[in-house]
Amino acid sequence: MKKINNLKIISTGHYVPEKCLTNEDLEKIVDTSDKWIFSRTGIKNRHVIENPDIENTSDLAYKASLNAINKAKYDKNKIDLIIVATFTPDYRSPSVANLVQAKLGLSHKEIPCFDINAACAGFIYALNVALQMLNSGNYKSALIIGAEVITKFTDYTDRNTCVLFGDGAGAVILEKTLEDKPAHFFTASQGELDKLIYVDEFVHMNGKEVYLFATSILEKSIKKVLNDTNLSYNDIKTIIPHQANLRIIQTVAKNLGLDMSKFFINIGEYGNTSAASIAIALDEFMMSPDAKPNDKVLLVGFGGGFTYASAILTI
Ligand code: UT7
Repeated sequence: MKKINNLKIISTGHYVPEKCLTNEDLEKIVDTSDKWIFSRTGIKNRHVIENPDIENTSDLAYKASLNAINKAKYDKNKIDLIIVATFTPDYRSPSVANLVQAKLGLSHKEIPCFDINAACAGFIYALNVALQMLNSGNYKSALIIGAEVITKFTDYTDRNTCVLFGDGAGAVILEKTLEDKPAHFFTASQGELDKLIYVDEFVHMNGKEVYLFATSILEKSIKKVLNDTNLSYNDIKTIIPHQANLRIIQTVAKNLGLDMSKFFINIGEYGNTSAASIAIALDEFMMSPDAKPNDKVLLVGFGGGFTYASAILTI
């Protein structure tokens, strides 16, 4: 029997750059069409930075954090742990989390700040690490961020990948709690599948293979976390999947016998923002009238690695 850990979501926030890159804009750059992109992926738009010298991953992460802090009028000095999930950091070192600490004016605090790279599953991985650290009793308040500037690594001559990705960041402030707010995680990876999607100078992907893997692993990850908690679909208010392709989510819904209304979808506006995708969607769900105290939400994602993860949180 797994130990039950409680986790309280104090606040959530997100930030995306103002500049938009629509399907029509992409039609002028590569041999593609709005019809192809929308019908194959569900994407209409993405938010993208103007220039990484002016706006980079840490800036998006900082703005998403400020959004979360301001919404709850939270005393930022309480934060004693910062983790950023990203595969597109400003530098190889220092971490984006270090830069966010400085931007928030928390450099005087001797707190651990570090990044996690688990690609599109990174935000769930980071939440899981935060849960363990909060429950160690050594930390009280964690700022967890998923942030990406994927356009830095996008080859705009490759129509197979460039139509998919956007930039953005989502943040959550978590505290350990004595309230009944159980949190459960499943985090895993299959390292031998590294070549299906990888990043060097640019993102490279075998779309078809990733698609097939994604549908089966999302189904498996959803079932796993429900099984581990003895919960059913009826106990879950909404499933927040990684927003990679609407058709992947539709296939998963069909195979699980679920209505699409059970899934939170925002891919049309943002495209695939990797580690930021679930974080942005979680904030948008939390701001919606559908979110009620003590609802259970199921997060599920997959990405390069392959990594995959799911979680059930009580809001
Ligand atoms: O965050 C996690 C990582 N990524 C994913 O989850 C992506 C998973 N894969 C996918 O979402 C889909 O495989 C894609 C959206 C990437 C591609 O869709 P598809 O239905 O699997 O298309 P395809 O790769 O089989 O390509 C079909 C055709 C090809 O033309 P031919 O060979 O049939 O003549 C492609 O060259 O579509 C062509 N094509 C395009 N046409 C117009 C590929 N990209 C484009 C494009 N515009 N942007």
